[in-house]
Formats: sequence, structure tokens, C-alpha cells
Amino acid sequence: MNFIETLQLLAFIFVLPCDEASVPHVSECNFCMKCHNEQISDSFGQRHIQGPLSAGGDRDTATAFDRIFPTTEDIQAKQSRPNCTECHGCRVQLQPLKAVTAFGQDFRVEIGASPEWIFTAELPPSEGGGRAVVKVWCMPFDKVHRTFQWRCQKLDMAVRANKFLIAQQRVVEECGLMDTTVKVWLAPVNAVDPDTGLHIWWYGLWMQRAEGISLNQLSYITRKSFVEETIMDLLQTKLNKTRVIRSAMLDLLTSQCDRHAQNVFINENGNIQLIDNLQAMKFNWLKCGSDSIFLPGTQKYTIASFGGNIVWKKIGSKPKRTVNPMVLLDYRCYANGGKIGTDYPLDLAKCLTKLSSLTVQEIMEQYGFPMQRHAEVLSVRAKDMLSKGFEWSLKHGEPLNLTPRRYKWHEPCCKLGVHHHVVSCGHAWNISMEVPKGDPLHGTEWTKGYPDPGTYLGGEGLD
Ligand SMILES: Nc1ncnc2c1ncn2[C@@H]1O[C@H](COP(=O)(O)OP(=O)(O)O)[C@@H](O)[C@H]1O
Ligand SMILES: *[C@@H]1O[C@H](CO)[C@@H](O)[C@H](O)[C@H]1NC(C)=O
Ligand SMILES: *[C@@H]1O[C@H](CO)[C@@H](O)[C@H](O)[C@H]1NC(C)=O
Ligand SMILES: *[C@@H]1O[C@H](CO)[C@@H](O)[C@H](O)[C@H]1NC(C)=O
Repeated sequence: MNFIETLQLLAFIFVLPCDEASVPHVSECNFCMKCHNEQISDSFGQRHIQGPLSAGGDRDTATAFDRIFPTTEDIQAKQSRPNCTECHGCRVQLQPLKAVTAFGQDFRVEIGASPEWIFTAELPPSEGGGRAVVKVWCMPFDKVHRTFQWRCQKLDMAVRANKFLIAQQRVVEECGLMDTTVKVWLAPVNAVDPDTGLHIWWYGLWMQRAEGISLNQLSYITRKSFVEETIMDLLQTKLNKTRVIRSAMLDLLTSQCDRHAQNVFINENGNIQLIDNLQAMKFNWLKCGSDSIFLPGTQKYTIASFGGNIVWKKIGSKPKRTVNPMVLLDYRCYANGGKIGTDYPLDLAKCLTKLSSLTVQEIMEQYGFPMQRHAEVLSVRAKDMLSKGFEWSLKHGEPLNLTPRRYKWHEPCCKLGVHHHVVSCGHAWNISMEVPKGDPLHGTEWTKGYPDPGTYLGGEGLD
């Protein structure tokens, strides 16, 4: 053995975190029950896909989108390999995303209905470390029964969704609003499923893991002392008010239609972070202009103020005795003079100006949106926000919510009070819980067998 070979051998041994250098590389295995991390400098941070298209990533991005599922050839090649009990060459250790601990309590994670699988992982230091979540398509296991079968469905939809997310992120980054949400990028998974030992060699959608728990999880805690002390303190005193305003800006800019309490995370310092930005800029099939607990006049916001029963027009529904602490997410409580108008942060103002100057085609190409409709929605929204201001755009701008889903604005409740264990608004807050005429779910005419509790035409009385 010459000097170089000795060095190589030493390097090999050093690199392997396990005792036996004879452990196979994961690429030699079909299933592998325990895959040790490879401490290589070739970090997938260098290959991950985000940032401006002009940064030379065009071709990479294009191929990465098609790598979120394994090819038939790859699957066949893999199946001819032996199963290993132990191997090396993985990048991270995946964990099922089952529970989180926060506020001195364990919370179960809601398992989504989607066929994609979600794991959590600690990123290697070469990528800056930190906790990440990765979404994987085409897992050959039934989520519930765990039966094994390769079948990938709706891949073109998944590719389009990822293209949209990356394009939208380029906009959000340029507009300086990334602090409100989590970063996402496409990169190889190269790890094994901790339950089955399946090697996931294809790409996944990596996401920075939001800190804390979702507001939905927070609301499951009904212990009186927790509600009265922790929630009040967290959502009132600690809540990062600047970020509330910026979250409202993000959701209006992107015409976000799925911002409910499960997609808003809060940590123990009162900082909020939004996840799951997919349902945005897409009026035509969702028939939604914006729907967010941060945006007054939208349905999700109104559910927080009135309760679901009134908004869904259940027979005989009455206002609840208690006020939902989420009413404190109203940006009007924290914005100067109770409104944003055109008082945007500098980066956002610049970005709105730029977007307004581009054609729809240019927006589509520069940011990489997969559909023209996305660029159309963004273009008109940016122009409105710039020239007519935030509130006008929310009330009257395109894309507009369907009439039965356009609610009157009411005064915000900006402070809570507790009296005899009942949470109420801490100042005079006499709102009338009226709802617009029509079907609140489909946005169509009222068709139920009892009189429509709606009292006005949606969109009326907004000024
Ligand atoms: N970036 C993230 N940070 C923290 N938790 C996350 C993140 N992404 C997803 N989760 C958690 O995983 C759950 C399931 O996610 P997902 O599969 O995307 O849900 P769905 O199928 O409902 O869209 C979410 O409800 C959330 O609690
Ligand atoms: C490897 O394990 C998988 C899953 O348990 C099984 O389906 C397959 O038959 C095994 N292959 C071999 C060669 O043992
Ligand atoms: C509140 O949010 C703003 C905007 O994201 C951030 O700059 C600031 O540091 C946050 N404040 C605290 C106390 O974390
Ligand atoms: C609340 O407002 C309604 C009309 O919107 C009014 O009739 C009622 O008197 C008000 N109540 C209080 C206590 O101000």
C-alpha cells in the first residue's frame, strides 16, 4: 500500500461512522434498515433549487422538478439489489413527523389527507443545519395499511405545484417578506424511511421547519389556566405585531386562499410563521380571491370572529359565549391609524413597482410560473396594491371572492379580557354578526330547505 492509498483508506474509515468498513453503500441495497450518514462535503445545499432563475439554476431547476418521482428503470434496478440490515451513504436521518413538544406539552401532528409523505430531519451542518421537513411523492406504501406497491399518481400536478411554489418564493423573497414564511427547495432525499427501510433516492420538497405549533394545535388546549394565562399572554403581549401586518401583506399579495389555523405556526416568543402556501394566485378553479385569518372580510377571518356555525349558516346558530383569541391576528390593531393603505415596507414597495411594470408574460418567465393565470393574478394584484392601496385591493381588487363569500368588515377586537373564565373582548366591541346571502361553501345561490340567514348582498357596505 502506498502513501496515497493509505490516505484514501484512512479517509474511508474516517468517513464511515460505523465500525465495519464492509458495510455496503446504500446504492447497493434495495431496502436498508439502518443507513449511516455520509459526511461528504458535496452537500446537497449546493444543488438545491431556489433563488432567482438568473443565478444559473435554470437547467437544474427544470430537471429537479422531474426528479420528484423515481423512474421505472430506477425502480427495477433497485429491486434487483439485496436488502441490507445496515449501510452507509445517506444524507440525513428521517423521522416521522408525529409529535412536537411546545409550551411544556406534547402535540400530535395532524396527518394530512394528501398522498405525499412528510418526514422531519435535522439538516447536516454543511447546509447550515436546522430542522427541516421534507415532502416525498410516490412512496410505495399505503399511508394507512402499509401495503407495498409502486404507483405514482397525479405527477403532472405535483410538478406544477412545485414549480408554482418555487416561482412564488422568488416573488416573496424579492418583496422582502420571507420572514413570514418557511423556505422551500427541491433536493434529493437520499435517506431511508425509518419504518420500512425503503431507500428514497429521488427528490423531495424540502422545507424549513416552522417553529412551535400551529394555532389549531394551540386551540386544542382548553385547560382553563392555559387559555387564560398562556394564550392571552402569547397572543396578546408576546405576539409579534409587525409580523402580523407582514403576514396580511403576504396573503393579499399572493391571493392566498388557504390560510387557516393549521397553516399558522407560533413559537413561545410569539413569532408567527406561515406554512403551506400552495393555494394561491389561482382564482379559476378555487373561485377564491383571498381567504385568510389575516384578511378582514374573508371567510376564514370571519369564522374566527363569528364562529363556524354562523358563517356556515347552521340552523339556529347563536354567537358563542367566548371570543376566539385568534381575533387578535387583525392587522388593523397594529397598523398605523388602523390601516396599511400604501404604507408598505421599502422592499415590498419596490417589488410592487417592478411587478406593475412587467407584462404578464414577463412575470411568468422571470419567476418561472407554470401557468399564465398565476402571473395574471399577481400582476393585477400588484398594480392595485400599489396604486389603490391595501384595503381597496382587499375589498374590491381582482381576483374577487364570489359574492356569497364577501363579508362586511367590522371593528377589530384588539384586546382580550377574562371574566369568570370566559374570554371576551377587553374593550367595547359591539359587532353585528350578519352574513351575506347565498351558499357560503360554493359561493352559489342559497338552495337549502330553510330560509337563508343572509341579510345583505356580499360586497355591499364595504366603504
Ligand atoms: N414546514 C413545516 N413546519 C412544521 N410543520 C409542518 C411543516 N409542513 C407541514 N407541517 C406539519 O405537517 C402536517 C401535514 O402536512 P401536509 O402533509 O403538508 O398537510 P396537508 O396534507 O394537510 O396539506 C401539517 O398539518 C403541519 O402540522
Ligand atoms: C426486501 O424487503 C422487501 C420489503 O420487506 C421485500 O418485499 C423484498 O422481497 C425483500 N427482498 C429480498 C431480496 O429479500
Ligand atoms: C418580529 O418580526 C419582525 C419581522 O419579521 C422581526 O424583524 C423581529 O425581529 C421580530 N421580533 C422579535 C422580538 O422576534
Ligand atoms: C350594538 O349595536 C346595535 C346595532 O348594531 C345596537 O342596536 C345596540 O344598541 C348596540 N348595543 C350596545 C350595547 O351598544
